[in-house]
Amino acid sequence: MKWYDIFSNIYDTSLEKLYFESRKRAVELLDLKSGQVIIDIACGTGANFKHIKASDKNVKIYGTDFSEGMLKKAQTTISKNNWNDISLFQADARELSANLIKEKTKKDISFDSVFCVLGLSVIPDWEQVLDKMLHLLKENGKIVIVDVFAEKRDFNTWIVEKFARADLNRRIWQTLEKKTSNFHYEYLPVKESKVGGRLFVASGIKKC
Ligand SMILES: C[S@@+](CC[C@H](N)C(=O)[O-])C[C@H]1O[C@@H](n2cnc3c(N)ncnc32)[C@H](O)[C@@H]1O
Repeated sequence: MKWYDIFSNIYDTSLEKLYFESRKRAVELLDLKSGQVIIDIACGTGANFKHIKASDKNVKIYGTDFSEGMLKKAQTTISKNNWNDISLFQADARELSANLIKEKTKKDISFDSVFCVLGLSVIPDWEQVLDKMLHLLKENGKIVIVDVFAEKRDFNTWIVEKFARADLNRRIWQTLEKKTSNFHYEYLPVKESKVGGRLFVASGIKKC
């Protein structure tokens, strides 16, 4: 995870503005209720946290990422803002399970929502990781995924893939649609040239 440790130093300054509105919209789709527990997988520098906090719902947030560098930035933001209801732990998303989470958090948790923004295009074995995410959800829990898909590949796609260590050929929403009910999908307002493809948000409810 060395690349993201380095990238963490410029991640927020280079990307915050670009994704601001999209993060807001994705958090709206989480449809948070007071008292819920949510997990942000591949949370990076915690760029989603302020949007979740802005929803003004009293939710407990867990953030997890593989990169220590990204998590350090996230922890700095949490400490600066005194967000005592956000806890972080380091994990490879490919190994996520209820047991691992119990080991890391010392709590038996199943989540009301799983959130993953720009993670599944980066994490290897993403289909298995998506299954693991669904396993972490309560019955009727909600999953919200934001990512990029390049229908037509061009130079920007190549650059973004190299820079983000991403694969923008993954039809993540299609797999999500098969595995959830109440599926929803929409494009987000970011120029394709800036992110190498179409930015989308997709959500669904865990099938019982
Ligand atoms: C493009 S960044 C997205 C970060 C954040 N979700 C955001 O919205 O800005 C991709 C993130 O995936 C994380 N990542 C990559 N491989 C991972 C893995 N196997 N397990 C967990 N996180 C991983 C990286 O460390 C990085 O923070």
